[in-house]
Amino acid sequence: MDFTIAENKIRDIISNNQFSDVLQDVVDFLYEHFDAYNWVGIYRVEGEYLILGCWKGKQATEHTKIPIGRGVCGSAAQSGKTEVVDDVSKDHRYLACFVSTRSEIVVPIKKNGVVVGEIDIDSDVSNAFNESDVVFLEKVADMLSEHIC
Ligand code: SME
Repeated sequence: MDFTIAENKIRDIISNNQFSDVLQDVVDFLYEHFDAYNWVGIYRVEGEYLILGCWKGKQATEHTKIPIGRGVCGSAAQSGKTEVVDDVSKDHRYLACFVSTRSEIVVPIKKNGVVVGEIDIDSDVSNAFNESDVVFLEKVADMLSEHIC
């Protein structure tokens, strides 16, 4: 799906959503509209840990609680910077969740400059995430910052 259309649809999902879980709806939207987004999850920061909230994919992950600083997720939470891993087999920080995963993106969600959560997406193809995905997902993360609790 075109990134601008997706951005507008997500803005609509967030502003029209009174009765269901905004985060789950956005996760579902991303999973369903981008072929290369094969597992989509949102972690929130709780003390020294990342705790998995909602997710969508074929399988559950065992990594539901990740110390800040560990793995690709923990690194992004620590630095506050988006992480793109083109080939997970070459990144020593990578915590394996699914045998099919080849690449990953982790985008911090910040409130007043403080990391409060993150979007984590795994792809079954290598090099799945380019600069357009980064720009798009950073906008989505901004839109979600008020909805992390
Ligand atoms: N691969 C992540 C762990 C989370 S799973 O991808 C869902 C990491 O290295 O931090």
